[in-house]
Amino acid sequence: MGAMKAAILFESLTGNTRKAAELIATNLQQEGWGITGVCPVRRPEMAAIQDADIVIIGTWVHGLFVVGQQPWGLGAIGHLPAIKGKLAATYCTFALNPGKTLDRLDATVSYLGANVIGGLALNRAKLRDHTEEFAARLTANIPSAT
Ligand SMILES: Cc1cc2nc3c(=O)[nH]c(=O)nc-3n(C[C@H](O)[C@H](O)[C@H](O)COP(=O)(O)O)c2cc1C
Repeated sequence: MGAMKAAILFESLTGNTRKAAELIATNLQQEGWGITGVCPVRRPEMAAIQDADIVIIGTWVHGLFVVGQQPWGLGAIGHLPAIKGKLAATYCTFALNPGKTLDRLDATVSYLGANVIGGLALNRAKLRDHTEEFAARLTANIPSAT
């Protein structure tokens, strides 16, 4: 009952994906959602995941910029605990072209047993706008339980 609660897990090398996680959390809170935790994929907070109605997983695009793009850290993402049966949404940050990164990320998160409702690729130069868009889409598509 009440507001949706989200946990946000990120994989980040130079900080963009972490910053995106924090901006997504702020935007969701402004829309009335609760945040159970914001933490690195490699140091997942069990309680934050367990208490969440939806788990948001973000990473960054690694490749040769126009070919070979992959989500970085799929191995760690594929070992996240307590995701089975959860709603999930994904995002990636990129510089030029995300390629099929989100599809690959979604496949891994689905394999954990989550119900992946979608994702968004966020341009690292437009994190403020793109995280706002992502949060707005999530809250529009998943109304809080009443
Ligand atoms: C080794 C390396 C490879 C990258 N390859 C791509 C790429 O293929 N396509 C792209 O759009 N961005 C690419 N990027 C840019 C990163 O995806 C982008 O800077 C991202 O926001 C980094 O996230 P972070 O700051 O959380 O580590 C690459 C960055 C690095 C360091």
